[in-house]
Amino acid sequence: MSAFIEQLPKVELHLHIEGSLEPELVFALARRNGITLDYANEAALKAAYEFDDLQSFLNIYYAGMSVLQTEQDFFDMTHAYLQRAHSEHVRHTEIFFDPQAHTGRGVPFSVVVTGIHRALEQARYDWGMSSRLIMSFLRDLPEASAIDTLRQAEPFHGWLTGVGLDSAETGNPPDKFRRVYAMARDQGYRLVAHAGEEGPPQYIRDALELLRVERIDHGVAAIKDPALMAELAENRIPLTVCPLSNLKLKVVNTMAEHPMGELLQAGLCVTVNSDDPAYFGGYMNANYRALQQGLGMSNSELLQLALNSVEASWLSPEEKALLN
Ligand code: HPA
Ligand code: ZN
Repeated sequence: MSAFIEQLPKVELHLHIEGSLEPELVFALARRNGITLDYANEAALKAAYEFDDLQSFLNIYYAGMSVLQTEQDFFDMTHAYLQRAHSEHVRHTEIFFDPQAHTGRGVPFSVVVTGIHRALEQARYDWGMSSRLIMSFLRDLPEASAIDTLRQAEPFHGWLTGVGLDSAETGNPPDKFRRVYAMARDQGYRLVAHAGEEGPPQYIRDALELLRVERIDHGVAAIKDPALMAELAENRIPLTVCPLSNLKLKVVNTMAEHPMGELLQAGLCVTVNSDDPAYFGGYMNANYRALQQGLGMSNSELLQLALNSVEASWLSPEEKALLN
């Protein structure tokens, strides 16, 4: 592993906390909660991590998180991710959680958010690691369910900085969530959305224009639309790109074909992130290394990506100055 990458102070902006659940913890929580999984052991679960596309991943992602039942489970999962991130010199992290994937199984919103929040506070206290929490709506569910989730979040607004949009992209365009995004905006939430992962460049335009998001999660489809690329570069709209995720979900066939280099050259505010590291084969350092090895990126390009993440983060100017 390159010492430059390891020692680079990093910021992560696209991480699904449920996607950090390692097979060992899945089985430990299953045992603790008396749950029988469809997989005999950790090796059998890991062997199923061969994906053809986003949906084939989502099926296993939702199965894996079914072991999460108690506040302690959510704490343990979040703590494990933060410890790993800290060990890789991640200084600040903005993480997603999927409330509907838990409330839909009968786990109360308060249990989920309290467990995650406690772990974030402990990391701030123990390591000075800062964070923001983003509640993400599942785009394959109706907008009414997202609106209901926004209402359940009201007592916890102080712990939640933003809202996002994830899960199955194709056929679930940004337009479907116009009302709930307007409501979240009125309530003072900051706005992001997954767009242009498997979906077309038009979904990126729609997320910006109809939902009024300030960052795009993934957004790699912008490479197919030079006019959109120019607009993203001009306005410094950040893209939270996830190289190993794109490879694992076959958004790109090889890392050498990944558009990150071209997007960076074109002046976009592109950033490196791990998405669902337990499933995609690596945390932050592994994602930086994939760009170094697959695209031949230089240390100065990798540094620019890390600086882009500071710029794109929701840290205050004072907090940003302390990081640089
Ligand atoms: N894309 C869409 N939804 C998701 C992802 C992703 O990469 N990870 C977890 N939910
Ligand atoms: Zn994602």
